[in-house]
Amino acid sequence: MAFVITIATLKGGVGKSTIAINLSAALHRSRRTLLVDADPQGTCRAWAARAAETGREGPPTVVVDGRSLRRDLPQITRGFDIAVIDSPPRLGIEARAAMLVADLVLLPTVPGAADLWALRESVDVLEEARQLRPDLRCAIVLNRADRTMLTKTAREALGSYGIPVLPTVLGQRVAFGEATLTGLSVLDHAPGSAAAAEVAALADQVLSTLGGPRGSRKKTSRR
Ligand SMILES: Nc1ncnc2c1ncn2[C@@H]1O[C@H](COP(=O)(O)OP(=O)(O)O)[C@@H](O)[C@H]1O
Ligand SMILES: [Mg+2]
Repeated sequence: MAFVITIATLKGGVGKSTIAINLSAALHRSRRTLLVDADPQGTCRAWAARAAETGREGPPTVVVDGRSLRRDLPQITRGFDIAVIDSPPRLGIEARAAMLVADLVLLPTVPGAADLWALRESVDVLEEARQLRPDLRCAIVLNRADRTMLTKTAREALGSYGIPVLPTVLGQRVAFGEATLTGLSVLDHAPGSAAAAEVAALADQVLSTLGGPRGSRKKTSRR
């Protein structure tokens, strides 16, 4: 079975697709990684199509109907070490299913008041999922953050949700938007950039939570 990471926040524009794309691309460098687009908006699908046009090798990407995710995922992820699921930005069967099939749920948020308050609903749904899946791991990822007081205050406010906040924070960086538009990850679009370093650190943190054979290295390493 693949280790399943779901990127889930019931709000649009917080960086779910950006994180799904870049995290899967980073993990793809050392693990057999599948990117699963379970959001009808199809951002990951469009990104993969753009990647295919440019001939760059990214993670294999599949589109899945969130309503049949729980049934189809074992078959779809066969042969992969890790699956990264991008999920829809609204409450529904699809978003719940994407959390229920996960081993690790990452909840991206932007450090603004409205975003932090809106995260409450996502945390509630996650808690419901954890009632059914007590082994489900989770963490909040701060995205589009900077070094201001707001980011510090956001971290403190997030403490009240009882969910760990990953030490790696993704900054507000032009490279993320540019890379996605050109069908690349920031690792390929802007190697050596701060954005690339943040994504690499995020992938390392995720890998360190994986144990056992599911986290084992690719037999044929690409790089
Ligand atoms: N860390 C970041 N720095 C700059 N722009 C970002 C960052 N994360 C996301 N964006 C941009 O914000 C917009 C929304 O991000 P997206 O990943 O599509 O959010 P979601 O999938 O949650 O709706 C996109 O235009 C994306 O390029
Ligand atoms: Mg999206």
